[in-house]
Amino acid sequence: MAKGHKDKVAVITGAANGIGQAFAKRLAEDGVDVAVVDIADGSATVKLVQAAGRQAIYIKCDVSSEESVAAMAKQVNAKFSHVDIVANCAGIFPQIPLEKVTYAEWRRIIGTNLDGTFLVSMAFVPGMKARGWGRIVNLSSSTVGSVVTGFVPYVTSKLGIVGFTRALASELGPFGITVNAIQPGLTVTPGATSRPPRAGFATMDDEFADVANRFQAIKRVETPADLVGAVSFLTGDDAAFITGQTLNVDGGRVRT
Ligand SMILES: NC(=O)c1ccc[n+]([C@@H]2O[C@H](COP(=O)([O-])OP(=O)(O)OC[C@H]3O[C@@H](n4cnc5c(N)ncnc54)[C@H](O)[C@@H]3O)[C@@H](O)[C@H]2O)c1
Repeated sequence: MAKGHKDKVAVITGAANGIGQAFAKRLAEDGVDVAVVDIADGSATVKLVQAAGRQAIYIKCDVSSEESVAAMAKQVNAKFSHVDIVANCAGIFPQIPLEKVTYAEWRRIIGTNLDGTFLVSMAFVPGMKARGWGRIVNLSSSTVGSVVTGFVPYVTSKLGIVGFTRALASELGPFGITVNAIQPGLTVTPGATSRPPRAGFATMDDEFADVANRFQAIKRVETPADLVGAVSFLTGDDAAFITGQTLNVDGGRVRT
């Protein structure tokens, strides 16, 4: 068990699936109670947390909506009375050719990924400040350091998250709150595998294997399990002096 986790409370957005779900399971195993926040049904994640012996609640919430986030925070605080950890995993990553990027699509992607990270973090900062302890972990993406096409709004949102992470860390350091980001590579999750393979690939498995072989030092496909050690470390006491950082967890794809 990581140091400093026992009986803490985490809000994890996007926790119904993929990376957020894996974070919920791992933090529960570390001794943390979890609010599973998602627009999709989070009951499977609630079961995973409970199976690890911790409390969980699912709250339906659209992180891009100020009203929805405010209502979610109220429900979380009613259930747990305080929140120590926020992991912002809710995100969308549609691949859209540049000429098809409408302003509405741009707003939708920035609104979910960047505005959502802002809204959910800010909802719990006052409580963390009052208690003098907090951990915020945001999700960036290795696409910000790679040559990829079709991701102009997405990459913009994910570098916005890096900027938000750095600036918020400067604000909150004096209050015992750290703010860091994790930057995964292409990872097998429902969100990543549900789209059709790119031209030249018969299946998504082929596309994933190609990315791993060509771009990563470690030549196997990334899974959410590869990311949980990072969130466990960054939210524990051992990482108390690390803030404003972005950790590449991508098999050695991006070097920054
Ligand atoms: N999978 C990858 O290859 C990869 C790589 C780099 C970064 N990421 C980032 O990791 C995070 C998690 O991605 P994933 O691969 O687990 O995706 P996923 O689609 O499997 O899970 C994302 C979850 O976010 C939820 N969500 C989407 N919009 C929401 C909203 N407005 N409000 C609340 N919940 C919402 C979805 O319902 C889903 O459960 C995302 O921020 C993504 O950008 C993923």
